[in-house]
Amino acid sequence: MPTQESFWDRQADSYAKKPIKDMPAYERTLERTRAYLSPADHVLEAGCGTGSTALLLATDVAHITAIDVSSRMIEIASDKREKAGVGSVAFRKATLDDASLETASFEAVLAFSFLHLLDDPGAAIRRIHDLLKPGGVFISKTVCLGGKVGLWPLLIKGMQIVGYAPHVTYLDAERIETLVAEAGFDILETADYPGSLTSRFVVARKP
Ligand SMILES: C[S@@+](CC[C@H](N)C(=O)[O-])C[C@H]1O[C@@H](n2cnc3c(N)ncnc32)[C@H](O)[C@@H]1O
Repeated sequence: MPTQESFWDRQADSYAKKPIKDMPAYERTLERTRAYLSPADHVLEAGCGTGSTALLLATDVAHITAIDVSSRMIEIASDKREKAGVGSVAFRKATLDDASLETASFEAVLAFSFLHLLDDPGAAIRRIHDLLKPGGVFISKTVCLGGKVGLWPLLIKGMQIVGYAPHVTYLDAERIETLVAEAGFDILETADYPGSLTSRFVVARKP
């Protein structure tokens, strides 16, 4: 099975060219995310991919640190940033474990289509809790593969064997919300975003 880094390095150029599948759902995600952001906020985006979301939210906040494990994703995002002339977003190749990310330093952490790719989403959510200031918000949208039966698991396993899919963790809405609550968050908002695979949108506050 490819690592996340090698898989997404290989996918990055085609990912950058792919149009957003469901534009109304994406716009709704941006709108609900903006509802929790303020102009003075310092924001972290984990698994930023090619940077589109961070660049769109740049004018809503003071600064966004956007990280991704794939150096090719970060190269593409940085080129887009240069072209757009956006100074308030910093793209960096890093994971949440990066020691330079300071605890209690962000007003918001964003993670879109990210948690299901991690071996241990619970550990990532606990780390996000540490990185947030008290009162800070964790805003996530996560692909739910949990409960999928029949062809889905077989298809994914087959794709992993031939290198066409990275590791995925089978999460569902209940499991995501349990992990978020167990990390010490208060859940503020949830929603299902339908698609070929449902995504669960969860907003939670660090008390
Ligand atoms: C499905 S893409 C989503 C990208 C973007 N958030 C979006 O919504 O379009 C997942 C991204 O997470 C990144 N990723 C996977 N595991 C990671 C990790 N442990 N730390 C940081 N980034 C990771 C991948 O490189 C990839 O760019």
